[in-house]
Amino acid sequence: MGGFEKAERLGKLPPYLFKEIDRKKAEVMARGVDIIDLGVGDPDLPTPTHIIEAMKAAVEDPANHQYPSYSGMHDFKYAVAEWYERRFGVDLDPESEVVSLIGSKEGIAHLPLAYINPGDVALVPSPAYPVYHIATMFAGGESYVMPLVRENTFLPDLSAVPSHVAERAKLMFINYPNNPTAAVADLEFFNKVIEFADKNDILVCHDAAYTEMAYDGFRPPSFMEADGAKEVALEFHSLSKTYNMTGWRIGFAVGNRAMVDGLGAIKSNIDSGVFQAVQIAGIKALRDDQSCVQEMVEVYTRRRDLMVKGLREAGFELDSPKATFYLWIRVPQGYTSAQLTTQLLEKGVVVTPGNGFGEPGEGYFRIALTQKRDRLEEAIERIKSMAF
Ligand SMILES: Cc1ncc(COP(=O)(O)O)c(C=O)c1O
Repeated sequence: MGGFEKAERLGKLPPYLFKEIDRKKAEVMARGVDIIDLGVGDPDLPTPTHIIEAMKAAVEDPANHQYPSYSGMHDFKYAVAEWYERRFGVDLDPESEVVSLIGSKEGIAHLPLAYINPGDVALVPSPAYPVYHIATMFAGGESYVMPLVRENTFLPDLSAVPSHVAERAKLMFINYPNNPTAAVADLEFFNKVIEFADKNDILVCHDAAYTEMAYDGFRPPSFMEADGAKEVALEFHSLSKTYNMTGWRIGFAVGNRAMVDGLGAIKSNIDSGVFQAVQIAGIKALRDDQSCVQEMVEVYTRRRDLMVKGLREAGFELDSPKATFYLWIRVPQGYTSAQLTTQLLEKGVVVTPGNGFGEPGEGYFRIALTQKRDRLEEAIERIKSMAF
């Protein structure tokens, strides 16, 4: 059978670097090895009860069974604006500067369709969450890679972007606190981004999915706190990690009105918004007492300290992260990311090779702190039993 030829964009998807790991994982599992998965960035903790209760009640109400408004319920957008005001001191107009999303991934993936013409350039960090590059490519655009390296504290070096590229660029993606490097950014960096974006007519897309997952009293800033941010930027946020709601699919974007409008125009032609019962649960999450967030941070702080200590004792080189639930760790001398990952897998410990997030991630691997304490302790024991 000839079959149907797929669109070229699918052929342009980067090679699936986890294929070999998936194969190896299946092989190790088939041998009966107990697997400790530190690969996936999906919280193991449950959604807090008060949010589940709000959802249960909302599901019963027939008013929530119809199509929602594509841009979000009035109340949800107000709850987002109030949360921004309380958390960041940022003033937002709920009607024109907030849009609800079916998870922040959905919004990030759709934004290039609103701004990228075939051949246009987007500035994309690497290593990074893969959606920035893939969404640019799906819209017909080209990514210009901004490498994130330790020498530059995993911030992109804007002065290294050639002026002819900066002039052509329409969009720029950044993400702090960062996945996968766990790096954080301050307002001084955001100010530099705004200056660069202003000069080159670039729209900034800041992915802020991890601002609430921060340790030792550190409070990561919003891009929107920087002067002039609303002129050039849209900030993406998610309830996924803050409230352990990855499966619920709810997030939002805030900031530049024209960008909210542009993204809304794409969305209104593709999806029909977020199930209202989920938005009502989201309102509860954003408006209620935030002690559940504090409790989550305390759990991850303990896990982080345990893992950083254990890995350092095992001879690994890593920084203790100020934010996110990731550890970004150098592979030992003489290993590639893939070799190290495969060797750990032999012992049933699944981690993610750094080059899976882009070539500049080679030489690192990522651990997600998404297992209970006893499993992390077991992982450390297994790692220590290996000779690196
Ligand atoms: C950097 C980053 N942005 C966005 C997302 C997507 O989150 P959501 O569940 O809101 O789609 C993730 C999920 O892992 C992420 O790591």
